[in-house]
Amino acid sequence: MLVLGIETSCDETSAALVDDVGRVHAHLILSQLKDHAAFGGVVPELAARKHLEHLPTLIARTLSEAGKNFKDLSAVAATAGPGLIGGLLVGTMMGKAIAAAHDLPFIAINHLEGHALTPRLTHRISLPYLLLLVSGGHTQILCVKGVGDYERWGTTLDDAAGECFDKAAKLMGLAYPGGPQVEKMAAQCADIESARVRFPLPHPLQARKDFNFSFSGLKTAVRQHVEALPQGALKQADVADLCASLQATIADVMAQRCARAMDRFAIEFQTDSPVLVVAGGVAANKALRTRLEQEAAAKNFRLCAPPLNLCGDNAAMIAWAGVERLRLGLTDGLDFKARPRWPLHELKKRTE
Ligand code: KG4
Ligand code: ZN
Repeated sequence: MLVLGIETSCDETSAALVDDVGRVHAHLILSQLKDHAAFGGVVPELAARKHLEHLPTLIARTLSEAGKNFKDLSAVAATAGPGLIGGLLVGTMMGKAIAAAHDLPFIAINHLEGHALTPRLTHRISLPYLLLLVSGGHTQILCVKGVGDYERWGTTLDDAAGECFDKAAKLMGLAYPGGPQVEKMAAQCADIESARVRFPLPHPLQARKDFNFSFSGLKTAVRQHVEALPQGALKQADVADLCASLQATIADVMAQRCARAMDRFAIEFQTDSPVLVVAGGVAANKALRTRLEQEAAAKNFRLCAPPLNLCGDNAAMIAWAGVERLRLGLTDGLDFKARPRWPLHELKKRTE
């Protein structure tokens, strides 16, 4: 079984070939970062045009790197949502066209399902597991019960964690995407404890018993700290301290919610070796990983985090989700419509 995966939901154009034993035969990711840099964020129309410009050659290169041909494929899987509609249309139309021309099954992949199933590609973990999904658009705690069977235990009530990193970074004059910049600056902080005293930040929703998040207050608190600093260019040391405080606070909030979710998971499933997975672009953050590792160990869970190159948006995870679905006979019609909004917990309806 060999599946071609296509990812175009945001600003990465990516194609990959993955088989059913989890071997990635070829994987190419073309970042549009430079194209959007001047605008301080992703411009949807521009992103769609760039996907259209690069996707055909990227797919051809992926096949030739693997020494494969369209006739070697078992199916074509393309991200069909959630994401920017222009890019989704480019990717799904391309996937459908290849499927139609070569008489292959087409599989519409939910981008979040791609992130959610990545640890099964990289670490062969078995179901069920607990998932902290943290990306630019989503912050959720999910119980992954099966392929297509995701129970949402918690979500953000406002901004996503990645969005919080990005917006706070912008307030501090850092480039987009902000998460990696904040991490880089935080590494320059000399003393994290005094940084947190200098720049205290709130821990939103801490007193509540549910698994939800809220990050917009954190962003506002960062703005207030920035405004309270002397006018003019921010000092490097101030930015480093503020970034360290922000990163530690976000890691704290996530660790606290995950700790509670692990308790619930342990009671509901009583598995021998329970796993907490962290996935999505923000999962690349090392401070967050370390914090979650400690929390997981305290609860007798194993933390599983995909390698850095598979944390961000990529087509290997889409191809793999395609493999998982194809194995279960879950394919889609060529009339499947791309969906800019497509919550993960709604997938179950399709597979029942
Ligand atoms: O999953 P992803 O690549 O795209 C979406 O589907 O949203 O996630 C992108 C998000 C951005 O907000 C980016 O700032 C954040 O992931 N991110 C990070 C790091 N690397 C990427 N946030 C914190 N620390 C990082 N090292
Ligand atoms: Zn993503």
